[in-house]
Amino acid sequence: MKGGEKFMKSSEKLMFILLVFAALLIFSPAGTAHAEGDPDFDMPLGALPPPPYPVDNPTLKKNVWPSPMGPKQELGYLTFFDPKLSGDQGPSACSDCHNPLQGWGTNEAHSKGYPGTAHWRNSQTIVNNAYLQKLFWGGSSPSLEAQAPSAARAARAGNLERDQGEARLRLAPEYVRRFNEVFGDRWPILQNAWRSIASFERYMSQIDTPFDKYMNGDKSAMSASAIRGLDIFKGKANCFECHNGPMLTDEKFYNLGVKRGEGLDGGEDPDDAMPLVQVNLRWEIYGNKGNSEWIFRSFKDDAGMWFRDKQLSSRGKFRTAPLRFTRFTAPFMHHGQLDSLRAVIDFYDRGGDENEFTKELITPYGDKYPGTKSPIMKKLNLTEEEKKDLENFLLALTADPMVLPTPKLPQFQAMADWMPRK
Ligand code: HEC
Ligand code: HEC
Repeated sequence: MKGGEKFMKSSEKLMFILLVFAALLIFSPAGTAHAEGDPDFDMPLGALPPPPYPVDNPTLKKNVWPSPMGPKQELGYLTFFDPKLSGDQGPSACSDCHNPLQGWGTNEAHSKGYPGTAHWRNSQTIVNNAYLQKLFWGGSSPSLEAQAPSAARAARAGNLERDQGEARLRLAPEYVRRFNEVFGDRWPILQNAWRSIASFERYMSQIDTPFDKYMNGDKSAMSASAIRGLDIFKGKANCFECHNGPMLTDEKFYNLGVKRGEGLDGGEDPDDAMPLVQVNLRWEIYGNKGNSEWIFRSFKDDAGMWFRDKQLSSRGKFRTAPLRFTRFTAPFMHHGQLDSLRAVIDFYDRGGDENEFTKELITPYGDKYPGTKSPIMKKLNLTEEEKKDLENFLLALTADPMVLPTPKLPQFQAMADWMPRK
């Protein structure tokens, strides 16, 4: 009867889950605050479960930091740091722009680019990316497996030529051994290098922050100030309207009115402009995207999601940023416009700022498109103490800095010395 008992138990479990779901559906809309202009369902905040793995890139060891890595994650640790997977094998490995000592991103407002270029946006952290459905500031990549090759090959990031990258892996005996062990490859296949990187990124998940512990029932894990901050986050400051769910993002797109990034035109001082950053914006808008000339001539800000769907109602909108690990990822926003968490809080307190796309657009044909600033953005009138509490809550969304050293990378070896014979 053992099997029978087990069946009863799992069917009870299923029933319970169904009931919880039904309860959520029935009671949630009434129980959630809906700000004007965004009458959507807000996912509850919660602790992170271990990261999900897709069926086409499974792993036996679903370990997360800080436990030891499994073999696939370890291979990804190497490929993530290895410049063999970038054009000139120079300073353009993933880890050069996602630096373990700079929150797995970079601390400059604009990321550096492939030698001879400057990236036009702020480099994001790769920590906890396993839980996101939409990657990049504009949400343009659907999975870690799809994102890795696009980063490695982009002209202003890794600038890798595929065949070169694959051949390089094949000329390093340690890679031949590891790819065989992990994927069964006779010779390393580049596609599997991207899978290994994705697996390493899933390993870089932080699920033991004070916030996670608090949500799992340890009420002493967050300070009294951070707990007050959580209330403000959900209530008076209304951050929760967009930053919800365990990753604190609804993965929707908004224009908050963040000002134009200084690198684009220098802001107050034209001398601060970074010509190569501007080159990237011009190229993004026109050079390779086939947009009309009047748009090329009129857009001066980063148009965000508009680059993807070309809907004028999307101009200047960006994916709600996840808030975990932000203790280590300043500066903030898509061009690193805000230096600190406190600066971000002050920004929201004044109801956001203005940019080119918060204003009405009139096309040369006389069509009018309203500004896209989110109506959710309002002055908050937070007191000094409320700001401090909110900041302490944000800090509770990070645990340790997750620093890993640069691994010892596999070395090339000429074929004749080691080629496996039939
Ligand atoms: C030259 C700098 C540079 C290099 C090299 C680089 N990245 Fe990035 N990465 C960035 C920047 C900048 C962004 C944000 C770009 C955007 O949104 O347009 C980004 C975004 C990402 C994101 C999305 C994070 C999020 O929150 O959505 C992931 C994942 C990522 N990179 C992984 C990688 C991997 C894997 C590699 C190596 C194959 C790599 N990057 C190489 C600069 C770089
Ligand atoms: C209307 C939706 C919305 C609301 C309300 C909102 N945010 Fe955001 N948040 C976003 C979006 C979108 C971004 C990315 C914006 C960009 O880069 O232009 C962002 C970015 C951030 C960042 C920067 C993260 C990074 O990695 O750069 C922080 C921190 C942040 N928000 C905290 C807050 C706090 C605290 C509140 C409440 C006071 C709040 N947000 C309210 C949508 C929102």
